[in-house]
This record gives sequence, C-alpha cells and structure tokens, in this order.
Amino acid sequence: MRHDPLHQPIATAAAPGKFILHGEHAVVYGVPAIACPVDGVQATAQVFTKDTPGIVVDAVDLNAQIRTQTDLDHPLSLATNNLLTHLGISAPPGLTVKLQSTIPIAAGLGSGAAITTALISALAQALGHQLDAATISNLVFEIEKLFHGTPSGIDNTVVAYAQPVWFIRDKELTPLKTNIPFHILIADTGIASETVTAVAGVRQRFEANPAQYQAYFDAIADLSHKAKASIETGDPSALGPLFNENQRLLQQIGVSNAALDALVSAATQAGALGAKLSGGGLGGNMIALVTQDTIDTVTTALQQAGATRVIHTYVQ
Ligand code: MEV
Repeated sequence: MRHDPLHQPIATAAAPGKFILHGEHAVVYGVPAIACPVDGVQATAQVFTKDTPGIVVDAVDLNAQIRTQTDLDHPLSLATNNLLTHLGISAPPGLTVKLQSTIPIAAGLGSGAAITTALISALAQALGHQLDAATISNLVFEIEKLFHGTPSGIDNTVVAYAQPVWFIRDKELTPLKTNIPFHILIADTGIASETVTAVAGVRQRFEANPAQYQAYFDAIADLSHKAKASIETGDPSALGPLFNENQRLLQQIGVSNAALDALVSAATQAGALGAKLSGGGLGGNMIALVTQDTIDTVTTALQQAGATRVIHTYVQ
C-alpha cells in the first residue's frame, strides 16, 4: 500500500449506472438481454488511511458510517468482508472508504450494483490487488443475491464491465460492439421501482400460466436477437420498432404502469423512434431512442408528461 502524507486518497474507483435495452424480466428465465452503461451518472469510492485498524465505509449519501467489523449485516460490510476473504486478508489495515453516488436510487439504473462495484474495486486496489471485471462482477453478484431476491446477474455484469453487453444468465458474457453509436433518453417516472416485487409478480404469473409466459419470453428473446443484429451490423434506427414491440410485451407480463405508459407515448408522439420501460418496471425509468435532432423536443415532451429527470446517454 502507498504512503499517504497529505491525506490524499490512496485508491479511487468509479462505476457507471446502467440501463437495460432489451430482455428485462425474461433474462431471469434464460432469455438473452442487452444492457448498456450510463456514464453520465456514477458511483465513486475513495480510500483513505486512518490510524486505527479496521475498515470504515463512509456512505456520504446515506449519512452513515459503517464499521465493517461490527455492523456485520450491512450490505457494504458484507461486500467488504467477502472481498477480504477473497484476498485472504484476516486483519485489514486502518482504512476509510468514502462512497458517493449520483445514480438515482430505486430507479432501475443499477445504483446498488455500482456502489458495491466502486467499493470493491477501490478497496482491492488499496490492499494491493488489481481485480479483473469478472472477479468484481462475481463479488458484487453475491451481495445482489442477498438483497435482490433472484437476480439474473445482469446489473453487476454491465456495471463491472462498464460496456454494452449481450448477457445470458449463467453463461459467459459477450461484449457488444456498436456499428453506429446511438442516442438514448432515460426518463424517470419518479415512482420507486421495486425490482424484487416486480420480479416476484412475474414469477407468480409465470407459474400460474407457464405456456403463455413462455410465449412472451420467446417473443422477447426474438427482439433481443434482432436488436443485437442492428446494433452490431446495421442501423440503430431499426431498434425503434423493437422497443415499441418490447413495451407491448412488458405490458402483457404486467410490469408497466400508467406513469411508464404515459412517458412512452409522450416520447413516441414527440418523435422518438421507439420507447419502452427499462429495468424492473412498475415505476423507475423508461428509455427512448432519439436522434441528435430530436433530443431536445423529446426531452421537453417527457418533462411535460411528468418525468422527474431525463438523462441523455450516447451508446457507443
Ligand atoms: C433489473 O435490472 C432487471 C430484471 O430483469 C431483474 C434481473 O435481471 O435480475 C428485472
């Protein structure tokens, strides 16, 4: 570990937010999904030395100081202690990790995964280890599983790799190369998206009606494949109709709501090439495919339709 005479951080790391382009919910059942990082919002971790041994996480946005050797049940303690076990360290030196995030919480933008990713990655560096994205993603997934029911692993994967990904549950990840970059607007309904509740609701309805739900998932798989082809080799404007079709399926599986539907129609009426909810649904965010020329008009239309925040991101 490096010396710290001016009390500068001895290690820093950042992790982006994420949005799901296609395949949310169906991904839990093995359907391929596409997810992209959102670089405009991020979680950051800075590690400082301190005189007393043990690791304290200073979660600035939560106004909480978590002592990872005594607040054992806290997710950030579990993440820290799992990392120490992974690195074979039983008596950590005195460190404070200052954690901050600009990623909206409970919005389907991967804030939990990003905070844990930044923490693990900065702490590992401070302890003299450079972990690869796969290892960080696995360590984050352990925490996601404890607190998010039955996650597919897509959030930790896209956030830890920080690049567009083609993701199939329990399979090796394929990074996605974009042929032509494209513009996405991400608009927030302002309603908290409880992913665990949404995923559990789909599970219940799937179990009550497996053939119908399998048909929905198969249709979503088809959209993911078509979207992958147009991202990698074609023209991203072809993604627009695929968004609209996916939104119709997400409505059928019961994860859209009036606020999401209103933002989706406002975006398409204002000239977006397509729009759909993104992530867990029942609130949270929707995404709209726009061009350079329609960014402003669609942003205004989304705000007028009640969006509490609109983020522009460029997928490349
Ligand atoms: C959440 O970002 C995406 C869901 O498909 C849940 C998951 O994959 O774990 C809704």
